[in-house]
Amino acid sequence: EMPLLEQCYNLLDFEAVARRIMKKGAWGYYSSAADDEITLRENHAAFHRIWFRPKILVDVEKVDFTTTMLGTKVDIPFYVTATALGKLGHVEGEVVLTRAARKHNVIQMIPTLASCSFDEIIDAAEGDQVQWLQLYVNKDRAITQRIVEHAEKRGCKGLFITVDAPQLGRREKDMRSKFTDPGSNVQNGQQTDNSQGAARAISSFIDPRLCWADIPWFRSITKMPIILKGVQRVEDVLKAIEAGVQGVVLSNHGGRQLDFARSGIEVLAETMPVLRELGLEDKIEIYIDGGIRRATDIIKALCLGAKGVGIGRPFLYAMSAYGFDGVDRAMQLLKDEMEMNMRLIGAASVEELNPSLMDTRSLFNH
Ligand code: FNR
Repeated sequence: EMPLLEQCYNLLDFEAVARRIMKKGAWGYYSSAADDEITLRENHAAFHRIWFRPKILVDVEKVDFTTTMLGTKVDIPFYVTATALGKLGHVEGEVVLTRAARKHNVIQMIPTLASCSFDEIIDAAEGDQVQWLQLYVNKDRAITQRIVEHAEKRGCKGLFITVDAPQLGRREKDMRSKFTDPGSNVQNGQQTDNSQGAARAISSFIDPRLCWADIPWFRSITKMPIILKGVQRVEDVLKAIEAGVQGVVLSNHGGRQLDFARSGIEVLAETMPVLRELGLEDKIEIYIDGGIRRATDIIKALCLGAKGVGIGRPFLYAMSAYGFDGVDRAMQLLKDEMEMNMRLIGAASVEELNPSLMDTRSLFNH
């Protein structure tokens, strides 16, 4: 007996349903994280150490939480981040997320390792719907160049280069289940060895030599904004600004890469004061992902200075359990939570979100 969709009242409820109904291998791939999963846990725990200092007697009859990300207007400050192998959870794969993103006017990031082909995901978009490309850089740069140029030609509005994965992390839950990827479009011309789990089997083409010196080359082959996904220290945010990229995602890949990496929200709290001190806060758009499950998490990130946040697993779980209707409801729940919590904090628009609305004293001292 599957719980009714109407009985999912928040994003965590979808995870509980997915754990019960998903095939072991698919659940293992989606839910797993590196080593002892300490960073996975921390991605949630860090948000729980931030408290609010709400303002009273502010007119919040109307609250407006629309914003822009890389120049695109969105209904709410989150995007659907790139997650590989959508068909493990749902026969139709990533296009389910495309349709839900359309309905809620949010941006979808298309993964290099999607189950659907890139063109299928582009074709599933409608009208002026905006999509971004997540890029794993191939050792064969000619392949990478073709992917980037094709994405730009098909209208992608941002190039997110994943920089936290010179090698895929050890996700032992995934390795143990040793399952075969059923419906993947993923072709990289490499012999795949499934004994290490799904993730490692499909990622052997990724170039571990990728480095800062390569960024100008990316700049030379595309006009899309370039964003580095997986930045984990303020020093590298400063380097990213120097390299002239348009954004960074402070992220530890959902805890799936280096265990004991800090959470994105903590790296954000470390980063913004330095940028403000140096007068650099307007030079780059800062995003975070990892562990965002509530609108209060989104609000905390925006108060600290993020332009927006990425959300991964919750939409995969909603899709796996209920298809489009699940993802639709998950996004609507976030909008409902957002409206209420903006009111309760005393902010009528995202411009009014700032550090003074929070107490972060226990974020680092705990
Ligand atoms: C990911 N993530 C990811 N990132 C990336 O750059 N390329 C990829 O192919 C994938 N694939 C992927 C698969 C699955 C199943 C998960 C859960 C995650 C990382 C993803 O973009 C993002 O950083 C995290 O998922 C954010 O954390 P939450 O929202 O899942 O907690």
